[in-house]
Amino acid sequence: MCERGIVIAIDGPAGAGKSTTARLVAQGLGYLYLDTGAMYRAVGLGALQAGLDPDDEAGVVSLLQKMQIDMRSSRESQLTLLNGKDVSVEIRMPEVSDAASRVATHTGVREVLVIRQREIGKDGGIVLEGRDTGTVIFPDAELKVFLVADVEARAERRMLELAEKGETADFQDLVVQIRERDVRDRETQLQFGPWPPADAVPIDTTGQSIEAQVDQVITLAMDRGAQVGGSG
Ligand code: DC
Repeated sequence: MCERGIVIAIDGPAGAGKSTTARLVAQGLGYLYLDTGAMYRAVGLGALQAGLDPDDEAGVVSLLQKMQIDMRSSRESQLTLLNGKDVSVEIRMPEVSDAASRVATHTGVREVLVIRQREIGKDGGIVLEGRDTGTVIFPDAELKVFLVADVEARAERRMLELAEKGETADFQDLVVQIRERDVRDRETQLQFGPWPPADAVPIDTTGQSIEAQVDQVITLAMDRGAQVGGSG
């Protein structure tokens, strides 16, 4: 048993169901939830708002020093605030996804965000979601999960998400965008060591219900010392 609650790192490519799974696992265990990707998205949005090219490392790093990014983590949800303004919805726009993936390639950006992420998770009892959560942020996390799904299944989920917001997209365009982001995200992570981490438990979510994914992760977490209700 673990007094302070374990650290759970949930990772996987875009659209594999990380966010929903991580949020529901945190809710189920009474743990904190941290969406680390939202922090890269906030930096990407900040760069776009400032008229900066997200590929301009020096410009983005200098801007980041002046940016205030707050993650309001609760046991139920998470809000992302950029310079005091709630940008939780804006950071999900396709152009921000692209900018986030670009700013995430800059070492200077990663160094700043990783320090903040470690600070948020230092007491355990947390589910972190994102690419380097089990390699760089918490390499000693008690449980690492790597969610995967077919690119078509991921594009379909993205189509549904967009449809819920009244937006449309071309299925093939989404497949191409997801593949491009996969390549860039993978290259970014491989700069810091093997990815996914060898000790991550792979879960294929293609055709799986969200409830089944969540149950699987909670069972694994309990096997590793987590207890429902926050501690352990
Ligand atoms: O998980 P997401 O799609 O919201 O992440 C947005 C971008 O940030 C994505 O391109 C991957 C990158 N990212 C990262 O490099 N490291 C993380 N810990 C989380 C996200």
